[in-house]
Amino acid sequence: MLITTISKIKETVSGWKMQGAKIGIVPTMGALHAGHASLIKKAVEICDKVIVSVFVNPIQFGPSEDYDKYPRTLDDDVRLAEGLGADVVFAPSPEEMYGKGQRLSNDNLTYVAPPFFYVDKLCGKTRTGHFDGVCTVVLKLFNITRADYGFFGQKDAQQFIILKKMVNDLNVPIELISCPIIREESGLALSSRNKYLDEQGKKSALALSQILNNIKNCYAKGVTDVAALKETAFRFLNESHELEYLEFVDKNTLEYKTKADNDTLVLIACKVKSVRLIDNTLIAC
Ligand code: PAJ
Repeated sequence: MLITTISKIKETVSGWKMQGAKIGIVPTMGALHAGHASLIKKAVEICDKVIVSVFVNPIQFGPSEDYDKYPRTLDDDVRLAEGLGADVVFAPSPEEMYGKGQRLSNDNLTYVAPPFFYVDKLCGKTRTGHFDGVCTVVLKLFNITRADYGFFGQKDAQQFIILKKMVNDLNVPIELISCPIIREESGLALSSRNKYLDEQGKKSALALSQILNNIKNCYAKGVTDVAALKETAFRFLNESHELEYLEFVDKNTLEYKTKADNDTLVLIACKVKSVRLIDNTLIAC
C-alpha cells in the first residue's frame, strides 16, 4: 500500500500498535536496488509490520549537489518493496514532510545537529550540513512511524554511527540494525548513484573496492602503519578518479587511527567522472 500523507500513516500505525505489532522502518531515498532490498528482507524477517519510506530529502543535499537529478522511480519502488513483503511504502512530498511554503533552512525549521566531532570528517567535511539533514529527516520518520526497529546499511557507515549517536543521546525509543554492504559480482557496492555511470565509469568505479580489498590483504600480511596502507591505494587510481578521502577510523567512535587494528574501519570517497561514490570495509573481515 502506498501512503503519501502523515495523517494516514499515523492512523495505520495506530491500528498496528493496538494489535501489539512490532514495527520496522527502512528509510530510503528510493531508486531501490538489491542493497535496499536486503534491508527490507531483514525487516520483514524481524518485524510484524514493515514500512519502507521513499523520500528524496531536500535538506540533506548541498546547493551544488544532485537533488534535482536524483533518480525517482516510485512505481518500481512500490512494486519491489511490496514484492518483498513490506506492508506500506511511505512516500510523502517535501511539502507534506516540512510544511507548505516553508523555507527549508535551520533559521526557520528545527534541525537535529549531530556532534561536530562526528561530522567534521569523512563525508561531513565536504557535505556541510548533510548529516543535520539526515538526522532531522530520520528522527521525523521515527516519530511519525513510532517504529520499534530501524534498518540501515553499512554502506553509509558514518551515517549509521551518527544515527546511533542521535538515538542514544536523544533517548529515541528505537533499535537500529545495521545490514552488510551488497555488491555487484565485480565488487562494486550497489548505489542509486551507479545509475549515473556509463560502462567506462563502472570500470573505473571498481577502484574503490579494489583499494579496500588491497588494504585488507596488506593488513592481513602484517602492515598496520596507516600511512603505508594509504600509499597502496595510488596504483588503482588514474585521471578518471578524483579521490576525496581515504581514512582509517575506529568503527565505533570515528576516531582517526595511525596504526590499524581489528576495530579499524577503512572508508573511501572518490569521484568517478564527477559521480561521487563511497565505500568502506572493516579492515579485518
Ligand atoms: P539511500 O541512499 O536511499 O539509502 C537507504 C539505505 O540503504 C541506507 O541505510 C543505505 O546505507 C542502504 N544502502 C544503500 N546501498 C546499500 C548497499 N549496497 N548495501 C546495503 N545497504 C545499502 O541513506 C539514505 O538513503 C538517506 O540518507 C536516508 C537515511 C534515507 C535519509 O534520507
